[in-house]
Amino acid sequence: MQPHDVGEDVVFSGEFRLAMYPTIIQGGMGVAVSNYRLARAVAQAGQMGVVSGTMLDTVLARRLQDGDADGTIRRAIGKFPVPEIAQRILREYFIEGGRKPDTPYKSVSMHSMKSAGLLIDLTVLANFVEVFLAKEGHEGLVGINYLTKIDLPTLPSIFGAMLAGVDFVLMGAGIPRAIPGILDRLSRQEPTSLKIDVEGSSAEDCYTVEFDPRKYLIKQTDLKRPKFLAIVSSSVLALSLAKKSSGKVDGFVVEHHSAGGHNAPPRGGVRVDEHGEPIYGPKDEIDTDSFQKIGLPFWLAGGYGSPEGLRKALESGAKGIQLGSLFAFCNESGIEASIKREVIEWIQKEKPEVFTDPAASASGYPFKVVPVESSLSDELIYLNRQRICDLGYLRQAYKKEDGSVGFRCSGEPVNNFVQKGGKIEETCGKKCLCNGLMSTVGLSQVQKDGYLEPPLVTAGKYIGEIKRIVGQNRDNYSAQDVLNFILDKAAHPHTKPILTK
Ligand SMILES: Cc1cc2nc3c(=O)[nH]c(=O)nc-3n(C[C@H](O)[C@H](O)[C@H](O)COP(=O)(O)O)c2cc1C
Repeated sequence: MQPHDVGEDVVFSGEFRLAMYPTIIQGGMGVAVSNYRLARAVAQAGQMGVVSGTMLDTVLARRLQDGDADGTIRRAIGKFPVPEIAQRILREYFIEGGRKPDTPYKSVSMHSMKSAGLLIDLTVLANFVEVFLAKEGHEGLVGINYLTKIDLPTLPSIFGAMLAGVDFVLMGAGIPRAIPGILDRLSRQEPTSLKIDVEGSSAEDCYTVEFDPRKYLIKQTDLKRPKFLAIVSSSVLALSLAKKSSGKVDGFVVEHHSAGGHNAPPRGGVRVDEHGEPIYGPKDEIDTDSFQKIGLPFWLAGGYGSPEGLRKALESGAKGIQLGSLFAFCNESGIEASIKREVIEWIQKEKPEVFTDPAASASGYPFKVVPVESSLSDELIYLNRQRICDLGYLRQAYKKEDGSVGFRCSGEPVNNFVQKGGKIEETCGKKCLCNGLMSTVGLSQVQKDGYLEPPLVTAGKYIGEIKRIVGQNRDNYSAQDVLNFILDKAAHPHTKPILTK
């Protein structure tokens, strides 16, 4: 019997027989690395494509200002259920023919406890557009990934994705206990609130952001409630989420610290080795038996990007694997073509070493950094960069003396951070992930004096597996190449494509 032929794992969609649970999840990769093109390619090939939901409001505003040359974005905007909102956003940001390359992008205001209506509309629309395009032209599965830590835009973001029929919501980088119940409420199109993490607040304080989806209401029937996968690194957290969340958790992505992007810190606190990398120990290894006992489906992530990795995961009781690094540098991903080529060449020449930087991210989580030339990984480039905070997604909310809420980011200009009560030592080694990651996907802001933030590239420790796909001579590969490499059907007959007529 095939694993995908059993019980509730199979649903029917039109003439397709569609497994509810994929073998491979293409992991969400921000900012705009896992864009609609990549997610669509993977979903079309019968596995699950996941778009990154991080900073999509700014991504959409910048794509529109770059002229949307082939009209794809405007076609999706044309399908938004409230045409007046779609038109307003187009009037605000679209530039026919695109802005001149040395002209700064019109900025999008930062999210706050009470974000302006235009920003909320833009956020709903941007998430709708990304999911709409990822789902276009096939019946496969599409998910969206958010970071729990970036909480201010969460409600309108999820709702926009749900308006486009997103199948899965995946969230890590925090404890997303409130989200399952929020998905229930949003599917019924009910007003919703989310508690915001405010530093310095006491148990009596309750700071929330509110969102009323009825403004975008188009039909009386409920929206589809996407399945919810929490991204975790410990079975203790998983069990607590399974038991104490505000609604149903449908499964887990279990991420090892070798994964690309942010990682969970070592248990017991961060100590670093002689290279400055966090020291992980046996307690940080994934205990798959404990996950099996929880009884919910799970996928393993972080270093599973090989046919052997998939086999190992299936043998340990997982439904499959989530992959990031292999997809990050394929043709369909959002990373700039020149950076992809440089990384592929590097992997062909030497054994690639990726650095786990304990300090780079204002989120406080360790962050993997690839030593790409002219990027923020270069010490000199880092030291010469201008500290700017004009996107602000990783700002931390804090309680001011008068009880109101302020925002600060340890990557912002040091004086500003300290004036807001931040500790100077927290600013050491901080990189601007918002601007650096935007630069990596070709959407960097031109600052007043022409300064462009250098890119910041992330990938997992096992990025070298890409060499098994490209060999010594090819300089590019597709998402389908990744799937062919992993699924290696001859060796693993039970991992057949899940989308069949
Ligand atoms: C370029 C890149 C960006 C990533 N961004 C995110 C993100 O925004 N949110 C998230 O939950 N995981 C993110 N990840 C992690 C992936 O979704 C995935 O879990 C991980 O890459 C799996 O491990 P692997 O890199 O060994 O394949 C990112 C990974 C990469 C390579």
